[in-house]
Amino acid sequence: MTTLVISSQKGGVGKTTVAVNLAYSLARRGWRVLLVDADPQGGVGFSLSEKARDAKGFFNLLNGTGTDDPNQLILSTRTEDFRLLMSGNADLFLGEEEPQDTPELRDRLRELFGSFSDNDVIVIDSEAGVHGLTRAIMAVSDYLLLPQQAEPLSARSMPRLLRHIATLRKELGDSTDTPRLAGILLTMVKDEDPISSEIEREIREILPTELILESEIPRDSAFLRASRAGVPVALLRPQPDNATKDFDQLAAEMEVRMNLADTTNQKESDEYTRLMD
Ligand SMILES: Nc1ncnc2c1ncn2[C@@H]1O[C@H](COP(=O)(O)OP(=O)(O)OP(=O)(O)O)[C@@H](O)[C@H]1O
Ligand SMILES: [Mg+2]
Repeated sequence: MTTLVISSQKGGVGKTTVAVNLAYSLARRGWRVLLVDADPQGGVGFSLSEKARDAKGFFNLLNGTGTDDPNQLILSTRTEDFRLLMSGNADLFLGEEEPQDTPELRDRLRELFGSFSDNDVIVIDSEAGVHGLTRAIMAVSDYLLLPQQAEPLSARSMPRLLRHIATLRKELGDSTDTPRLAGILLTMVKDEDPISSEIEREIREILPTELILESEIPRDSAFLRASRAGVPVALLRPQPDNATKDFDQLAAEMEVRMNLADTTNQKESDEYTRLMD
């Protein structure tokens, strides 16, 4: 089981859109995927299903109002390998004060994610900001994916976010080499817009090349239509070719960055995948 957190310092950069569509593409590529909504605002529920919005979920499991077996709260979808844990009711967990990133909370999260170990990948959508609960989730996860809007002001928060991650890694010490940075993903890229291209060039200049994913997500109204319809973009009719392909490409790149093939029982063969054993 590999855990991947989608996080960002700034809100509205496309985290939930990336989480939903990447999780769906990974499932279509044959991985057993659980998408966990760890945003108290319940972004995945808003994006995918009104009915599921009222379901118990992640926060109920954290505050003890869930069930003994966390797997009972997992919702199936029509795609067999794509399953969801909604955010549920966060009020009790959040209480009066913002929850702190404590060793107890990290232990609780480790235990919770551990109970979902029959999945290949757990994709976790988080709230904007990298403190409190989100920081604790990052601390116990294997990989981080950071969506970055290709717009002037949002690019400036990236060095600070990277410093936060470096501090977290330092605090975790030598005992672990996680969380690893799977990469920075440029989102809402406007291909024909010279300013967007300029910013993209700037970001690629400022940051080490290997940190930035080759895949990028263009600005496309299909994402708005998809979240209004409550589906991953690949299920829209007629299917928006580019948006679907972009996420399939991202899923393929993330498989490599997260060493997914190495964590399964795949037979050793470096150059190709067997069609049959
Ligand atoms: N590539 C895109 N092209 C066009 N619209 C997009 C794209 N990605 C996201 N959006 C839209 O932008 C808005 C914000 O996206 P999203 O909810 O995914 O961001 P977020 O980072 O999860 O926000 P928050 O920090 O509030 O959780 C949504 O209305 C979404 O449909
Ligand atoms: Mg969101």
